[in-house]
Amino acid sequence: MLNGEKKIERPLSWAMVGGGRHGQVGYKHRIGALRDNTAFKLVAGAFDIDPERGKDFGTNIGVEENRCYPDYKTMFAKEATREDGIEVISIATPNGTHYEICKAALEANLHVICEKPLFFTSEEVLEIKELAEQKGKIVGVTYGFSGNQMLLQMRAMIEKGDIGEIRVVDLQYTHGFNATDDADKFSEAQKWRVDPKIAGPSFVLGDLSTHTYYMSQLIMPHMKIKKLLCDRQSFISSRAPLEDNAHVIMHYENGAVGTMWTSSINAGCMDGHRIRIVGSKASLEWWDSNPGELRYEVQGEPIQTLIRAMPYLDDMCNADERLGALHVEGLSESWANIYLKFAIAIDAKNRGDEETLSKLVYPDINAGLEGVRWIENCVRSADKGAVWVDFDEVYEKILS
Ligand code: NAI
Repeated sequence: MLNGEKKIERPLSWAMVGGGRHGQVGYKHRIGALRDNTAFKLVAGAFDIDPERGKDFGTNIGVEENRCYPDYKTMFAKEATREDGIEVISIATPNGTHYEICKAALEANLHVICEKPLFFTSEEVLEIKELAEQKGKIVGVTYGFSGNQMLLQMRAMIEKGDIGEIRVVDLQYTHGFNATDDADKFSEAQKWRVDPKIAGPSFVLGDLSTHTYYMSQLIMPHMKIKKLLCDRQSFISSRAPLEDNAHVIMHYENGAVGTMWTSSINAGCMDGHRIRIVGSKASLEWWDSNPGELRYEVQGEPIQTLIRAMPYLDDMCNADERLGALHVEGLSESWANIYLKFAIAIDAKNRGDEETLSKLVYPDINAGLEGVRWIENCVRSADKGAVWVDFDEVYEKILS
């Protein structure tokens, strides 16, 4: 169980790029990083595309005025001249800026925590991965839901064989907030999400399904996709070529099959984020709207609901428990858990502790790469007319 006691020698000096006053996701980063007061200390930021608003916001949340910078380049240059300069940054800006900010940060010898989807292409991720290795730095990716401990319970039960051989993987991340075209007109965050220059090659596949795809890999690390077929639509035509709805069928290497439905036009749906894994003996099902519960359905037996924080859960799951039974946990604790793991990873990297790094389960650059490959393959399949594509074909050509 976690209680805020330090896991690393001292908090890391941390800065944010983006995530300012009107940013949707910035506060989630701060909730995650600053939860324990022993992992990160927010000391600087280039919080906003508008420098004045960024400074006003930064000082308002307690950052010294002279460390609220007009842009990330100035921040990296000025902080490098300070003895107590920043060591790690988080990138909470629109997708199309991630690659250049991440590259500049690594070149400035900083660790990086970056929003998803990491970049637009797997070539970009491979280049940054090499740079991070050269520099001895971590690149983490904020799949924010993935810190929920019940996902680790699913992982442990599958590993122990509690559901038998996996046959069907049923994934869904949908909502209805973009069911009308009005949705694109008023919010800055929504406008860029349907502009391919800023969002990249996809809308909901990148915005939503990359989370669920990573979570499925966290739960079933041994399951690799062999081929997939994706059919995507822009029900609001002004969003074309970016999709607001997609269905993906997956075939896994071990013979299992899967589906992903991702959509922002699921009218009336407030939060439809679900993972169901069907095995030869039993099934497991988790919803992020009820994240402290896991349904365990053994064929021929009464359905069980496993509840967070109980001693019957796996040690791996309970190690990430924070509040204990009787008290509700949710997305904030999930973000705190992944940020704590980023801190442990960065500290281990700094100390050359490869053993700790190899055992730590967290969304690293390989998870970012997988998310980008997922989008690339889905888009390639859909744009050829919803045909089957080999998951590794293009990637292997890039590597050769
Ligand atoms: P947003 O448009 O609401 O906010 C972007 C923020 O970045 C704003 O504060 C803006 O002023 C700032 N900004 C933009 N360019 C900048 C630059 N060059 N330098 C400094 N600041 C800059 O976007 P939102 O929704 O917060 O998304 C940001 C990223 O987070 C996206 O990549 C998105 O996919 C991801 N995201 C992830 C979530 C998660 O659960 N992990 C949830 C929501 C978004």
